[in-house]
Amino acid sequence: MAASSDLPTGLQLTELDPGFRADPHPLLKRLRAEAPMHWDPVFGAYFMTRYNDIRAVVTDRGLLRDSDKAEEGAHFAKLLQTRPPGSPQDDNSRFILFMDDPDHTRVRTPLAKALYARVAKARGEVEAVVDRVLDRLDRKSEFDAISEIAVPVPVLVIARLLGVDEAREEEFRAWSEGLILSLHPMRTPEQTEAWGQATSAVNDYFAAEIAERRRAPRDDLISDILAAQERGTELTDEEIRGHCVGFLVAGNMTTSDLIGNGILALLQHPSELAKLRAKPELIGKAVEEILRYEPPVGQTARIADREMSAGGCPVHKGQMMITSIPAANRDPAAYSDPDCFDITRETQPHVSFGGGQHICIGAPLARLEAQVTLTKLLQRYPNLKLVQDDIRWKNTPFFHGLEELRVRA
Ligand code: HEM
Repeated sequence: MAASSDLPTGLQLTELDPGFRADPHPLLKRLRAEAPMHWDPVFGAYFMTRYNDIRAVVTDRGLLRDSDKAEEGAHFAKLLQTRPPGSPQDDNSRFILFMDDPDHTRVRTPLAKALYARVAKARGEVEAVVDRVLDRLDRKSEFDAISEIAVPVPVLVIARLLGVDEAREEEFRAWSEGLILSLHPMRTPEQTEAWGQATSAVNDYFAAEIAERRRAPRDDLISDILAAQERGTELTDEEIRGHCVGFLVAGNMTTSDLIGNGILALLQHPSELAKLRAKPELIGKAVEEILRYEPPVGQTARIADREMSAGGCPVHKGQMMITSIPAANRDPAAYSDPDCFDITRETQPHVSFGGGQHICIGAPLARLEAQVTLTKLLQRYPNLKLVQDDIRWKNTPFFHGLEELRVRA
């Protein structure tokens, strides 16, 4: 399908564009109606916006993620491939999101087993972390819910699960912000430098933590993953280190944004907040509606493994398909009154965690953290109110979260 000249492309479809950042939906709505398989010549990829087309693509287990398999002109794929300055030349390990089978299954299976087992018994730990974070606030009548609550909870929880020193909270947060710069298409030289520094610092840190547990295993996720390797799972040392880092990075900002977006959505919709206060058992549904309504991740992608058709359009082998998560989640063909925030909606699943074999491995943890944090926050603050008119979203490309959210107790 040809690109229509006045349709947005490249950075205009990311949070770097002030209009898109403030409200992407008018534009996504237009694309869904006029060009649901929109060829973006800047990113060299299709930009997809319809729910059914996106679900079909993300759940197609034959499609690929390894950027090396994308055609030459797939600039977006090449962006994901770059390595930070100073990274070891012999480090060929990749994050599972960019692996295909058989490597993807080889690496994902033991990691998922170890993570799911830890998450299944983590409720008490998550509750303890959230209590501690809320305790730190106690005497403040007005505060920023992002820096005081949404940011610390995920860092402290993943640090606990991995078994690393929670006192290094600030460093973990800074490292994950540095590593996210790997996805920034317009990095300044300073940002490239910060990305490189964060990468080597976090890699050195985890290499030492892993070595220590190899000598003396502990009751934590790093030791569980090492035990899986000893039982004969074919995980390389580089893969273990890379994925410990990956858990720290993939889980922090995304889950912070979910918590922040959730507080905002509830405070902006008093009738929904009242429903949740009256029936706290609705929290599971409320978090799913928050994920649908304000998804923390803007898009995921797949590469065609064959000559195929997607959204009724021919797609050639090696072409990339970017799937817009907020567009799918607000498609009127999938959801009645999609722009309405309704925590009791009977709904089909959103695509905020992607789908198929790459579906987010951290989804159960993110859901648990959001459910516990929102529940405890509402219990502690029966009169919580927004005290900010101008809502400022972050300009971090491909992620959707708030800069700041001032609330009154
Ligand atoms: C609200 C929070 C989160 C959101 C919205 C989110 C979203 C996503 C999305 C959209 C994908 C791509 C899926 C696809 O292409 O089909 C993904 C993959 C992934 N996420 Fe998350 N994520 C969140 C939290 C987490 C957490 C807490 C962790 C780890 C502790 C995590 C680890 C991963 C990993 C390892 C992958 C790659 C999985 C694979 O390729 O097999 N995420 N996530």
